[in-house]
Amino acid sequence: VQLTGARVLLTGASGGLGQAIARTLAARGAELVLSGRRLEALEPLAAETGARAVPADLADPADVRRLADGAGAVDVLVANAALPASGRLARFSVEEIDRALAVNLRAPMVLARLLADGMVQRGRGQLVFVSSLAGKAASGGGSVYSATKFGLRGFAQGLREDLRPHGVGVSCVLPGFIRDAGMFHDSGARLPAFVGTKRPEQVAQAVIDAIEHDRGELVVAPAPLRAGAAFAGLVPELSARVQRRLGGDAVSSQLAAGQTDKR
Ligand SMILES: NC(=O)c1ccc[n+]([C@@H]2O[C@H](COP(=O)([O-])OP(=O)(O)OC[C@H]3O[C@@H](n4cnc5c(N)ncnc54)[C@H](OP(=O)(O)O)[C@@H]3O)[C@@H](O)[C@H]2O)c1
Repeated sequence: VQLTGARVLLTGASGGLGQAIARTLAARGAELVLSGRRLEALEPLAAETGARAVPADLADPADVRRLADGAGAVDVLVANAALPASGRLARFSVEEIDRALAVNLRAPMVLARLLADGMVQRGRGQLVFVSSLAGKAASGGGSVYSATKFGLRGFAQGLREDLRPHGVGVSCVLPGFIRDAGMFHDSGARLPAFVGTKRPEQVAQAVIDAIEHDRGELVVAPAPLRAGAAFAGLVPELSARVQRRLGGDAVSSQLAAGQTDKR
């Protein structure tokens, strides 16, 4: 899809990666509809990017529907909003599990359901789902988050085949650890020196590539991490043993401690 003049609905626009994605889309001439819960973060960004802000709580099914209706004839959906949902299952209330599923998985699926019909009728459109490397490889302390991110990736892969004959593309973007802004950065967790990171702007560029070139799956991570995730997909038990040896538990407990407030 050509971005100049295309209407793009971006969820999670108020977050660390969302702001970078919004600015990059605006620079490509897209007409933006920005969503999130915090109007105080959305409004200045909307003013800066010439966008319309439509606040919505994606844990609330009525709000998801209102957002799809309010966005109008959308050419591109970038389903980027998520909560980190890190920590051991035993530390989650049932309500927190429900919220993680609702925001990270149900909302993107329902938005796709509500927006894809119009795209099919117009014979053009792109649905972009921001998953995570945690949607390819799970780690201890990441079961709930990975459930949502594996789910989103599977949804995107299947839907891509269904919409292909109708001229509508589906993409999945999988960031690794992102520095400078966003949920990993905000957690204050520290990585072992050998684990590399990428910048929010590189995630934004992957979103642009996905939209402009209908890319199915784009990983935004340094090569060793990418290889590690592919390895985990092939031999998950061996990969878990390697992750344990390399100090994965320490990173996941720091993440859980630093992200509890976002549940
Ligand atoms: N940062 C990373 O290292 C990293 C790595 C892999 C994948 N990702 C993925 O990248 C995407 C963006 O994450 P980020 O790092 O930018 O995180 P973030 O800074 O925590 O931003 C999360 C965004 O999701 C929105 N959100 C959370 N709960 C919501 C709800 N109930 N209703 C509506 N919106 C809600 C937040 O908006 P409000 O606060 O305004 O509600 C915010 O805009 C996510 O899908 C994340 O899983 C990030």
